[in-house]
Amino acid sequence: MKHIHLINSLPLNNAEKFTEKATGKYYTDEKIALLMIEKLLPLINAIGKKNYNIADPFSGDGRLVTLLIKQWMLNGFPDVEWNVYLFDIEHAGLVHAKSELAQLKLAGASINVTVKNIDIFYEFENYIDYFDCVITNPPWENIKPDSRELNLFEPSIKLKYIESLREFDDYLSRVLPYSQPKRKFAGWGTNLSRVGAELSLEICNKNGMLAIVMPASFFADEQSFTLRQKFFNTGRLDFINYYPAEAKLFNGADVSSCSFILIKDNFFKEDMQLSVYDKKLNINSFGCFDFSSIDTQHLSIPISQGVHAIHLLKRLQEEYSTWNSLEKNGEIWAGREIDETGSSNWTKKNGDGYLFVKGKMIGRYNFDISHNLKVTKKIDKVPSSSNFERIAWRDISRPSQKRRVIATVIPPNSLAGNSLGVVYYQSGSQDSLFSLLGIINSLCFEFQLRSFLATGHVSLSALRKTAIPSEKILSQHTELKHLVISCMNGCCDAELKVEAYIAKKIYKLNLNEFNKLLSSFDKIELAEKENLLRMFQHYG
Ligand SMILES: C[S@@+](CC[C@H](N)C(=O)[O-])C[C@H]1O[C@@H](n2cnc3c(N)ncnc32)[C@H](O)[C@@H]1O
Repeated sequence: MKHIHLINSLPLNNAEKFTEKATGKYYTDEKIALLMIEKLLPLINAIGKKNYNIADPFSGDGRLVTLLIKQWMLNGFPDVEWNVYLFDIEHAGLVHAKSELAQLKLAGASINVTVKNIDIFYEFENYIDYFDCVITNPPWENIKPDSRELNLFEPSIKLKYIESLREFDDYLSRVLPYSQPKRKFAGWGTNLSRVGAELSLEICNKNGMLAIVMPASFFADEQSFTLRQKFFNTGRLDFINYYPAEAKLFNGADVSSCSFILIKDNFFKEDMQLSVYDKKLNINSFGCFDFSSIDTQHLSIPISQGVHAIHLLKRLQEEYSTWNSLEKNGEIWAGREIDETGSSNWTKKNGDGYLFVKGKMIGRYNFDISHNLKVTKKIDKVPSSSNFERIAWRDISRPSQKRRVIATVIPPNSLAGNSLGVVYYQSGSQDSLFSLLGIINSLCFEFQLRSFLATGHVSLSALRKTAIPSEKILSQHTELKHLVISCMNGCCDAELKVEAYIAKKIYKLNLNEFNKLLSSFDKIELAEKENLLRMFQHYG
């Protein structure tokens, strides 16, 4: 990580903040470390060895390994010898780690300590297949120049910095290829949490185990697909603990996290434990799920909502093919239309031209036409979607909101700004378009979407994983079409009816499943839930 040396040549205050970010230095909260360690201890004991090679390749102050040994002793596991290896690019934490381990030795633990102040990404190859247990929390940074921070550098150093980041990125993609993202943007996209996880797996021996803290997105996002595949093919997951962003575990950073254990042995175990914690780190739900129930195409596990969600997701997805496949076979087109940067300079109220559609005009089942903004500039390539009546949606980026997608139908001869997504039937079918709108605005759809969202942002790639009926099937549901039109006309009860209809007649849930689905939305009030359940029963 040559770029770190460059950063260290900055004046102290800036350099301190910057290296902290570049090395991803938020240490693990003790409570979540303990929750992981208490599951790990019996697994280590089951190996039954007299001495263990154990490492934290991103050691920080060594808290994970020291806590593990402390808990081992406190829980009365047999006396064993620990060959402890701690690596870190920063020196200070390692000094603390050494003194903590020395204390444990005084308390009677048998420990041989190897502490190295190194860049582990350049040295891990000396330890391939070496450790019985790796316990860690890697840095979580993206490798990417940050323009605000680049301003701290002289122009010539700025270029050198970008160059050394690029070199580092190229190097990582060669030595740890599975953690490369599926797609890079402007050549960037490597995230150190994935690379660190792959490295940690590599240094586990063939029956070894990896206990790791990671961003929760590891289990959902497309960028981690190849690494998930590598992990699931290399070992078996034993448990996953999920922590919501509101728990603010990493110095207030708004990111949901998880910890899990992967065991590299051939013993096949179908059931995996999943525990979901709330923001106060109390347990919210606990259960086991069958690995064969996860979606084999994306290998994503919707960990945030607990095991019920995994079963429900499977039910919601078993009937229909995905949005993506409808796009691929040309039935629907989905995407963005025009860049809306500086739109106030090239739109005016009334007059001729395309109607300009932006986020605030889009409501649930309604379109606010009162703005009547017209595009005044010449658009070089008018997207063909603009000729169609189509669905436009905007996303709500706060995960705590009840709905993450708000959609309505927009008229032809309009252009949607790129904060909006649009979808339409290439056949021009309007009948099914209304029913599709009902689906996109439904809780059954929202539930699927949430299972695939890795970040606050609702990405098209997450939408593409949802299962939705084909146009042919939807065209048979004329009642749904009429209900959706009633919603658009503001008819009371129509929204409840659409929800119930979609759950029962489209996704074929039973009452119990619908009840569970509704319970997974904490923003649905009891009265609304009861009304929805009543309506559900009304459809015979
Ligand atoms: C998220 S912290 C975790 C520390 C500790 N394992 C814990 O759980 O609290 C990540 C650590 O990785 C270290 N680190 C970052 N890049 C590294 C590298 N290339 N080689 C070794 N350590 C690195 C950081 O200095 C930091 O101490």
